Amino acid sequence: MIIDEGLLLARSKPGLRAVRLPALDVPPLPAGAIPGKLLRREPPKLPEVSEVDLARHYTRLSQKNFSVDTHFYPLGSCTMKYNPKINEEFVRDPVVRRAHPFQDESQIQPLLGMLHRTGRWLENLSGFPAVSLQPSAGAHGELTCLMVIRAWLRDHGGADRTDVLIPDSAHGTNPATAALCGLNAVEVPSDARGLVDLDRLRAAVGPKTAAMMVTNPNTLGLFEEHIVEIAKILHDAGAFLFMDGANFNAILGRARPHDFGVDAMHMNLHKTFAVPHGGGGPGCGPVGVSSALAPYLPVPHVEEEGGIYRLVYDRPKSIGKVRGFFGSVGAILRSYCYLRILGDEGIRRVSDHAVLNANYLRKLVGEVLHVPYDRACMHEFVATLDRLPNLPERPAMQAAKRLLDLGIHPPTTYFPLIVHECWMIEPTETESKEQMEGFADAVRQIAREAAESPELLTSAPRNLPVTRLDEVRAAREPKLTWFSASQTVRPGGR
Ligand SMILES: Cc1ncc(COP(=O)(O)O)c(C=O)c1O
Repeated sequence: MIIDEGLLLARSKPGLRAVRLPALDVPPLPAGAIPGKLLRREPPKLPEVSEVDLARHYTRLSQKNFSVDTHFYPLGSCTMKYNPKINEEFVRDPVVRRAHPFQDESQIQPLLGMLHRTGRWLENLSGFPAVSLQPSAGAHGELTCLMVIRAWLRDHGGADRTDVLIPDSAHGTNPATAALCGLNAVEVPSDARGLVDLDRLRAAVGPKTAAMMVTNPNTLGLFEEHIVEIAKILHDAGAFLFMDGANFNAILGRARPHDFGVDAMHMNLHKTFAVPHGGGGPGCGPVGVSSALAPYLPVPHVEEEGGIYRLVYDRPKSIGKVRGFFGSVGAILRSYCYLRILGDEGIRRVSDHAVLNANYLRKLVGEVLHVPYDRACMHEFVATLDRLPNLPERPAMQAAKRLLDLGIHPPTTYFPLIVHECWMIEPTETESKEQMEGFADAVRQIAREAAESPELLTSAPRNLPVTRLDEVRAAREPKLTWFSASQTVRPGGR
């Protein structure tokens, strides 16, 4: 792998061209049309390179990273499943590509129709009578649901209900959402089996409880077996049950959260229905709610009457707009394409295979690492690395870095917080048996290396363009401009 790719400017040779622009087909501006002080004094320093140089440069840059298209990527909870390329072709269709959010509804009927049908499909899968496609991500969907619940409570004499109960295994966005909504996050401990502790829940619920946020399957990859009882405890106390649906991909077509008694839920389209995300694209976090909460959903809402689709803003109880225009349309339509191609039966098979793969991998990994909640899991499982020998400091991190050398993107590390030195592993349904066996072999190799030559772990990764970064600093002070030591031409920027 070429480590120091350098800038295109360094390859520049006067006269080389990757692209030739067509001749100007509009009259040139008359002299003096642009004030002299705004005119450049010299041409911009753009690289002059051939098409081959250009293609190779960007292809090499693209290979410096890990992605679902290049590597196994078992990132628990974040669900990096393979994104079928037909989704991309679909959203490049002119009906989608040329649409503009300010266009008249009459001109974008096919697009609005697809949004409408996606909403109905999500209603069928989740069991909720009403779905809004508006929120832009999972965390945004959580926030939308809590705002909807808070609006209902204010309308029904519950404004003093300010506590939100959250299991200690929850994703960090749950307490952050409660805080952003002006509510207090109250932690509920898990029991010895990794599930919500019902006695502790009963003790925590009270007249100040607005809602509980429960993730199901939870972040240990375990199904909350007492979800119906949990809903009853909340409802008996006059509170709502919100479900973090980020792990919906585990139960798609097999169970509908509204049937458990859940009042509101967000769905992470980008994780559940194969949409590039993380560095690769925007997310989308539609929400489903019960009929009592439906009038409070954000606007606009896509409605259909007599075969005509409309964006409806006139909903007096709505919490209003939560984002511009009408949702992450590109993500919604990729999900629509995925749903249409797979159909109801295919969607069921998605969750079946996700669960089957996770259980197979749990068995294989369990031969090497300790799996603390070692029973049938859903789409992911958690293993701990604290028993690896010779790694006194942060073994989960050291082993994750070594996985990079072996060509595998590490699983989610150090989450959920209730498991010490853990990896959260989610193979997803798109991986083959051989791929998972390859991962288990890598884990076996790492365990052997920890015993025999631990420096291979503590110095990893060695084969990548960057080795050990100060990760906190990298996030806080990202270096967004590249300079080589010998570079004399400095492009704009720091
Ligand atoms: C359990 C859980 N909840 C919420 C979220 C937040 O979703 P997003 O990253 O789309 O905001 C995630 C993200 O991975 C998650 O795993």
